[in-house]
Amino acid sequence: MDRYIIRGGNPLAGEVTIGGAKNAALGILAAAIMTDEPVRIENMPKVTDTEILLKAAEGIGTKVTHEDRHTVIMDSSHLQSTFIDDEYMKKIRASYYLVGALLGRDKKAEVPLPGGCNIGVRGIDQHIKGFKALGAKVDILHGCICAEAKDLRGAHIFFDKVSVGATINVMLAASLASGRTIIENAAKEPHVVDIANFLNSMGANIRGAGTDVIRIRGVEKLHGTDYAIIPDQIEAGTYMAAAAACHGDVTIKNVIPKHLECITAKLAEIGCQITEFDDAVQVTSYDPLTSTQIRTLPYPGFPTDMQPQMTVALGLAQGISIVTEGIFDNRFKYVDELVRMGASIKVENNMALITGVSKYTGTDITAPDLRAGAALVIAGLAAEGETTVDDTSYVERGYEDFDGKLRELGADIEKVSDGWSAERARLKLVN
Ligand code: UD1
Repeated sequence: MDRYIIRGGNPLAGEVTIGGAKNAALGILAAAIMTDEPVRIENMPKVTDTEILLKAAEGIGTKVTHEDRHTVIMDSSHLQSTFIDDEYMKKIRASYYLVGALLGRDKKAEVPLPGGCNIGVRGIDQHIKGFKALGAKVDILHGCICAEAKDLRGAHIFFDKVSVGATINVMLAASLASGRTIIENAAKEPHVVDIANFLNSMGANIRGAGTDVIRIRGVEKLHGTDYAIIPDQIEAGTYMAAAAACHGDVTIKNVIPKHLECITAKLAEIGCQITEFDDAVQVTSYDPLTSTQIRTLPYPGFPTDMQPQMTVALGLAQGISIVTEGIFDNRFKYVDELVRMGASIKVENNMALITGVSKYTGTDITAPDLRAGAALVIAGLAAEGETTVDDTSYVERGYEDFDGKLRELGADIEKVSDGWSAERARLKLVN
């Protein structure tokens, strides 16, 4: 089992380049199997979640060629099955995008129920409601979502809650349904727009992505395309929060500053200086941080996927901060670990009351999920002494070369695999 060993206290300084958006990539990889023609995708992040989805596509007959580290070509002209039989798929949330994609393409899909981060109940009722509205029969059988339709017909769908996954899934299936689909109360996240743009580049007819009403006119078939994925809003935000917590001066390159506005606004509020460039943002944090209040909301609100990283920064901010989780019902599990590092945080239901402390101190901690794992690494970087974060697998689901990029910024962090290498890394860090 791999773990991070961190000797904290170094301010972060320099430049970091952000990769393609993981959550866009997952929808795009699923969409890519909806055509028989080759699809070339650039800026594909090399993280475990995308690798698992690519493996699953290969498992049903997609030919995957890696042109370079971040460019894949997918050829699904010989797709053999609509049954995804891959035990790893159960570990990622986005496995459900294959239901929308296969249902659209072959009118049939059988996909293991999604896993992903353990951050509370994560229903799929809105996905099922959407598929049923399009005319599919949907059952949960033996741990799989089984969906089938004679014909998929466009429909007027009102989501009862804003769901990124359900919006994308229905967009996928409806692209190849007959007639017009209208999705009301749609999610507006940047990656919803990116996946709509990708589908449109394959010949789909989707309008309104990025607003809460999406209109889709179904087409008969989709064709090949050549597409570059947008930069990852959350990876960028994570380095911004790290710069804030570690009192750094970090320029985050290859970003869309507009997508980061909800994060930039909060960092400015707590005392960071933010400079925006065309495709970069610079975060400097020399003064003590000050408290604020944050509530996570669907886009353009503050992203739930940035909640743990900001909580770590606010734990070091003067005064009392309040962070309210508005999306998931169990996303403060990492707080116990942070308290073991000296944070003063009380959690009641979906609210964290944070009294800023002057420092964290290093200890051995466990990453409970992807974003909390990244947040605990930030806490370790800001802490006095040594922190071990166990293990790295959650973080690697969504961050490419996290430790390498942090080292480039001056962090003392090593990824180690076993007891011996842990000891070696410890000695190396001490020397
Ligand atoms: C996606 C992101 C995840 C992010 C989340 C919210 C991917 C692969 N994952 O997850 O990183 O944290 O958006 O921005 O893109 N819900 C239901 N029924 C449904 C669907 C959702 O009750 O059918 C609930 C969920 O339990 C959750 C809330 O709605 O409480 C939002 O979920 P949703 O937006 O669907 O998140 P995901 O697509 O799972």
